[in-house]
Amino acid sequence: MCGIVGYIGSNNIKKILIDGLKELEYRGYDSAGIAVLNDGKFDSYKATGKLINLEEKTKDFHTKGFAVGIGHTRWATHGKPTELNAHPHIGESSCVVHNGIIENYVALKKELLADGVTFLSQTDTEVIVHLFEKNLKSINNPFEAFKKTLNQLEGAYAILLVTKSEDKTIFFAKHGSPMLIGKNSDKEIFFASSDTPLIGYADEVSYFEDGDYGFVSSDEIIIFNQNNEKIEPIFSKLSQNKLSAQKDGYRFFMEKEIYEQSIVISDTLLGRLKDDEILFDELDDSLFDGINEIKLCACGTSYHSALTATYLFERYAKIKTSIEVASEFRYRKPIMTKDTLFVVISQSGETADTLETLKMAKKAGLKTLVICNVDNSSMVRVADACILTRAGVEKGVASTKAFATQITVFWMLTLFIAKLKNSIPTTEITRQISLIRQIPTSVKVSDSMHERIKRLSKRYLHGHGFFFIGRDVFFPLALEGALKLKEISYLHAEGYPSGEMKHGPIALADPELFTIALLPEHLHYEKAKSNVEELSARDSTICAISALEFDKADDFIKINSCEDYMLEFFEMMVVVQLLSLEISIRLGNDVDMPRNLAKSVTVE
Ligand code: M6R
Repeated sequence: MCGIVGYIGSNNIKKILIDGLKELEYRGYDSAGIAVLNDGKFDSYKATGKLINLEEKTKDFHTKGFAVGIGHTRWATHGKPTELNAHPHIGESSCVVHNGIIENYVALKKELLADGVTFLSQTDTEVIVHLFEKNLKSINNPFEAFKKTLNQLEGAYAILLVTKSEDKTIFFAKHGSPMLIGKNSDKEIFFASSDTPLIGYADEVSYFEDGDYGFVSSDEIIIFNQNNEKIEPIFSKLSQNKLSAQKDGYRFFMEKEIYEQSIVISDTLLGRLKDDEILFDELDDSLFDGINEIKLCACGTSYHSALTATYLFERYAKIKTSIEVASEFRYRKPIMTKDTLFVVISQSGETADTLETLKMAKKAGLKTLVICNVDNSSMVRVADACILTRAGVEKGVASTKAFATQITVFWMLTLFIAKLKNSIPTTEITRQISLIRQIPTSVKVSDSMHERIKRLSKRYLHGHGFFFIGRDVFFPLALEGALKLKEISYLHAEGYPSGEMKHGPIALADPELFTIALLPEHLHYEKAKSNVEELSARDSTICAISALEFDKADDFIKINSCEDYMLEFFEMMVVVQLLSLEISIRLGNDVDMPRNLAKSVTVE
C-alpha cells in the first residue's frame, strides 16, 4: 500500500526523500511524488510507474540549505494511477501526502466544490489540502486549522502536511495507517511509514499511536494523543538491519503477513460498509443486469477463496454459481453463455492460466469481473470491472493475507448481490454487515494462541500425511490449510470434505496419519464431529480446532466463541496458517521462499 516519507533539515533533501521512497517500494506502488518547500517556494514532481521515472524528472532539481519536504508512493484506490492522482496534492500554499482512505471525501468534496475550489485529481486525498486551506483562511492559525481539518475527516490515515505559512514545520496525523518519526544529533527530522527509510539517517525513532497528531520542526516535536492531551514521544534506538526492519521484527514475511491481516482487512472494508448495504463504488449496478449465473475461475489459494464464495453466493445471494480451476477450464472447450458473469480471482493479477480464462470469457462476449490485489495488473486491465482486495504487497510465497481479504470481499459481494436481487431480508443483511465489521478482531493473533501452536507444532513433524477436514465453507478452508502446509513444510497434506473420508481416504487412518479437524460450533457441528469420531476410532491422531471442547481429540486448539460460522472461519484460518508456519520453521525450511515455487506463476 502507499508509503510516506518526510524530511526537515539542511542535507540533500531530494536524495533523502527518494531514497526513502525506494525503501518503501516493497509495499507496492504505481506512482510516486515529492514536494519540497525551500526558500518560501514549493517544488513538486510526480511520475507514474517506478521511482526511476521520478528520479529522471527530478534530475535537474537541486536545493541549497534548509528545506522541508514530503514524498509518497501511491497504490491506487480512488482514481487511476495517473500523474494527476499521484501525491503530493498541492493547494494554493500547502501540500499533503496521505496513506489510507478518507471515507467521507465525497461529501467534503461536494462542499468544497460549492465554495468554488478546483480539484485536479480524482483522489480522496486532495480534499485534505483544500479543507486545510479553507480552515486556515477562517482560523488563521495553521495548527488549529490542521486540527479542525482532522476533526472533519472520517476514515483511516497517516498524513503529512506542509504549508508556506509555517515553512519550517511538518504537520502530521496518524489514525489507522502506520507512521513513525526519527531524529539525529544534527537536528534532522524524518518521517516514514516504516523503519527502513530511516536506517542510516536517524539515530532514534518514535512510533505514533492511532489518534496521535501534532507538528514538528528542527527545534520541537509537539504531539497530542487521541484525547487531545499533549504527550512526550518515547524514542528508541533504530536497528541498522534493513531486512529485519522490513519484517518489522517478525521472523519471516509470512509471519508478518499473518499478523497484518487485521489491518489489511480493515483497509478492505474501508468505505464499503453501511448499516444495511454494501458499497462497491467501483461496480456499476448494471454489471448484474441479465445475469443468471456466476462462474468463478482461479488457481491455488485464490481458487480456495472462490470455492468458499460458491457456498455464500448460492446460500444468500441465491444465484447459481459454479467454479473451475483455471488450468482445466482453458482447455476443455467449455460452454459459455452470456447470462453468466465470469469472475476471476487472483492475488497477482498475472497468473497465466487465470488470465487466459478471462480472455476466453471476454472473447465469448461474457461480462467479466476480477477480484485482485494488484491494480493495473494484466487481469485488471482486461476485465470489465474490478474489485481490489487492498491486502498490500504480499511477499511470502505462501499466500495468507491475500486469501483473508479475498474472503472478505466475497462475503461483501454476496450481500451486495443479495441486496440487488432482494434475496434475503434487509435485517439479515444488516446482521451480516455487523459480523463483517468484527472480522478484523477475529483475525488478531493472540500471544497465547500463537504460543500454544508453536508448542504443539513439534508433534507434527513426521507421520505419513495430514488430512485437513471440514464441511461446507470449512471444506475450502481445509483445502487451504493443506495447501499452506505442503507448500512450506514439504509434508504430504490433503484437504477433504469431512463426510467424504469414509468413501476411501479413511483407509489410511493410523496413529501416523494426522487429522486436522475443523469443527465450527455454528455449522453442522454434530455431523462434522461424528466424521472426526470415525477417524479417532481408527486411531488417527486428531488435532481439533473448535470453540467447543472435544474429548476425542489428541490435541485441541480452542478458538474464541463467535456468533456466526463465518467468524469461526476467520478464526480457524489464522490457526491453520500459524500451524503450517510453525511446523515449517521447526523443519528449518525457508518459509518465505519454499523450494520449487514462485510467487507469481506467469507461465503455463
Ligand atoms: O496470484 P494468484 O492468486 O493468481 O496466484 C494463484 C496461485 O498461484 C497462488 O495462490 C499459489 O497457490 C500460492 N502459492 C498459494 O499460497
